[in-house]
Amino acid sequence: MSFMEIKNLKKSYENGLIKALDGVDLTIEKGEFIAIIGASGSGKSTLLNMLGGLDVADEGTIRIGDYDLRNTKKLNEFRSKFVGFIFQLHNLISNISCAENVEIPMYELKMSNKEMRKRSLELLDLVNLKNKASSDPKVLSGGERQRVAIARSLANSPAIILADEPTGSLDSKNTENILKLLQELQIKENITLIIVTHDLDVAKHANRIIEFLDGKIINDNKNN
Ligand SMILES: Nc1ncnc2c1ncn2[C@@H]1O[C@H](COP(=O)(O)OP(=O)(O)O)[C@@H](O)[C@H]1O
Ligand SMILES: [Mg+2]
Repeated sequence: MSFMEIKNLKKSYENGLIKALDGVDLTIEKGEFIAIIGASGSGKSTLLNMLGGLDVADEGTIRIGDYDLRNTKKLNEFRSKFVGFIFQLHNLISNISCAENVEIPMYELKMSNKEMRKRSLELLDLVNLKNKASSDPKVLSGGERQRVAIARSLANSPAIILADEPTGSLDSKNTENILKLLQELQIKENITLIIVTHDLDVAKHANRIIEFLDGKIINDNKNN
């Protein structure tokens, strides 16, 4: 049995006029590093949101580990225990510190304040930003902010990290650094890393590149 099994996934909008996902079948093993590429509007973000339990399909199934994501009663538990999210922009909260931002996913985990702070400092250290723990994210550079976002995505020790254009607002040097960091974590923690990107230079870091067009998979290159 594979780690993730996606069968005949469909999602439409505007009363069926827009087929965002049009029958997606996909099997993913634990620890894979996958890049999802494709033109704007091809369904990449829709798929990622469903894999993270942020949205539900019209038809088809997603099973991840023991979770059947059709069971909406368990989606909250699934998200808080299993998934780390990284988005492109506007992903940190201003007027609270970087450490507090990293602690946000820990609130679901019944940790004490002391335990949360210990872990957030460890995670900020991991992304080389321990010295910014008490800074407001708004004084950080774009690359630093995205490193805080990575630290936050790891707060709940997720089995899966879902990243939607995580380097979309960064220059090439910061992009390279962020990808190296994500890849190190993926290998060390055996995390399943799924990155949506329109940037082929980003995709080439992945072990597998899946290409979307009009809500369908048109290429699946497993030996990238
Ligand atoms: N909430 C929504 N309401 C209406 N249409 C949507 C919604 N979300 C996505 N879509 C449409 O679904 C298609 C796929 O979108 P998306 O998954 O965001 O594409 P991508 O991430 O590949 O750019 C697009 O045509 C988009 O406009
Ligand atoms: Mg998108």
